Amino acid sequence: DQYTSEIQAFTAAKAEELEAFRIKFLGTKGIIKDLFEQFKTVSTEEKRSFGKVLNQFKQLAETRYNELKENFDAKPAAQQAGQDLTLPGDGFEVGSRHPLSLVRNEIIDIFKRLGFVVAEGPEIEDDWHNFSALNFPEEHPARDMQDTFFIRKGEGGDDIALRTHTSSVQVRMMENGKPPFRAIMPGRVYRNEAISARAHCFFHQIEGLYVDENVSFSDLKQTLYHFVQELYGEGTQVRFRPSYFPFTEPSAEMDISCTICKGAGCNMCKYSGWVEILGCGMVDPNVLENCGIDSKKYTGFAFGMGMERIANLKYVIRDLRLFSENDVRFLKQFQSEI
Ligand code: PHE
Repeated sequence: DQYTSEIQAFTAAKAEELEAFRIKFLGTKGIIKDLFEQFKTVSTEEKRSFGKVLNQFKQLAETRYNELKENFDAKPAAQQAGQDLTLPGDGFEVGSRHPLSLVRNEIIDIFKRLGFVVAEGPEIEDDWHNFSALNFPEEHPARDMQDTFFIRKGEGGDDIALRTHTSSVQVRMMENGKPPFRAIMPGRVYRNEAISARAHCFFHQIEGLYVDENVSFSDLKQTLYHFVQELYGEGTQVRFRPSYFPFTEPSAEMDISCTICKGAGCNMCKYSGWVEILGCGMVDPNVLENCGIDSKKYTGFAFGMGMERIANLKYVIRDLRLFSENDVRFLKQFQSEI
């Protein structure tokens, strides 16, 4: 009786359980086999009733086993192994691109459509490529404009430093090729500054260079104007202010109209309505000559921008340190971007 109810109640979640059931009741050393052994010793009077119960019992076990087995064989393997396919799946974390990568990719895309290629160079630079070729006079305070991390202070222009800008890549490109050049140079640069919300000892730049015959300042303006329309949206205004860089003449800084709050007070522009985004100018003929390019035949423009600044203005990020802290709460916010 006890076995009967056990058999009736039995269900198997896993194939192994069903097999265990088979062994227990129907196996060669199973309960039923055992009962048949006992049957031999039962007195003749009792044999009839005992035999009847025994046969019924055997049938019950077999039927239950076959039922369950059929049921089981019809199920997918995962379910046979006892997994419940109706349970919700485990969630998994999807990564996201770093905002600086997003911005870099977007800028590269825009300039690629204008025929610019991407060029890269070393982060550890010599004095020539970072300064001298770019028309920084020796011992000139302009070298201090960009607080440099020197790796080796050498004799007479023998210094090795972490590059302070990616303009060094422009020099390498011009030295190693022939005009026309049309390239942008993304990369990390280093400056010896105390880390705060507004400054860091490293950041990322994208510089651009276009050298060919008859390249003019109006080409520079139109190119950068187009770039800004693509990046910040149609109708973004630009203005150029005169500036100074040793390697460009004339030089300018470009501001864009603040597109974030449209003047309503996000304070990214300190309520002026304008934010500076890049430096630019016509490549100084001295720089062209330093790189072996005929400055009578060729002219060019160059520009350089900090990617962090571009990202700040796109995503309203107010603290530079966020870019390098790897705080997932910050990084997660860019999941929806491509
Ligand atoms: N190299 C300059 C800087 O780091 C930016 C710049 C590049 C300005 C090209 C003009 C032309 O500040």
